[in-house]
Amino acid sequence: MLAYVSKLDFLLWVALPYAVITIFILGHIYRYLTDGFSWTSKSSELLEKNMLRIGSMAFHYGILMVLIGHFIGLIIPKSWHEAFGLNDHLYHLIAVVGGLLSGLFALFGLIVLTYRRFSVKRVLAASSLGDKVVLGVLLLVVILGLLATLSNIGGQFDYRTTIAPWLRGILTLRPDPTLMQDVPVLFKLHILAVMLLLAIWPFTRLVHVLSVPIAFIWRTPIIFRQRCPERD
Ligand code: HEM
Repeated sequence: MLAYVSKLDFLLWVALPYAVITIFILGHIYRYLTDGFSWTSKSSELLEKNMLRIGSMAFHYGILMVLIGHFIGLIIPKSWHEAFGLNDHLYHLIAVVGGLLSGLFALFGLIVLTYRRFSVKRVLAASSLGDKVVLGVLLLVVILGLLATLSNIGGQFDYRTTIAPWLRGILTLRPDPTLMQDVPVLFKLHILAVMLLLAIWPFTRLVHVLSVPIAFIWRTPIIFRQRCPERD
């Protein structure tokens, strides 16, 4: 029997995600082809160093841990967790403690970066509208994610049997919006904020994420030698 899906649920949990994925992919291609030289994280290190070092480190390490947690909780199915001996209680404990710590670390970094962008005159003068909007949307995503986690400390809602299979369905082209019907509103708002972030992504400095220089890890080291004064 086919389950009833409202127009709104279809729009939010099938049409919107695919529209956003399309904008994300085509937006990157368009940006690369039309304005490839602007493909950068637009470093402002020369304008201010101290707050940047603290904020950027906290944000990047925090968000990396958050995303590793998301991969384990949303992409790896619950049955696999159980096969590895992670029962509901243990999983929830690790997810809440690890999630909150890494989320708060990322939030601290974002607050420092936002304060820096708006309080250091030279950084503010060099900022585009996109630089400011991206910080606002990141704050929204992270704060809503933290609120969703805090609202579910007792573990009454299981996103591994609802949001997780919905997300995997979207990624494998087998969308099922009914999985999102009874999801608590804070989780829904968090996911909608993520979609907003993905839709503006290609038009902001976030494009640098797709060109992280991971080749650093295996390429031959570049050797810097001091000039030898006697040979000059
Ligand atoms: C479609 C993509 C995403 C989905 C379905 C999703 C879903 C979730 C869920 C279910 C939680 C609660 C985790 C828990 O209570 O254990 C959560 C928390 C959180 N999310 Fe997301 N999320 C997505 C993408 C993102 C992105 C891109 C970011 C950051 C840029 C982010 C940042 C956070 C943060 C900071 C938390 C709170 C800390 C934590 O539990 O990890 N999320 N998200």
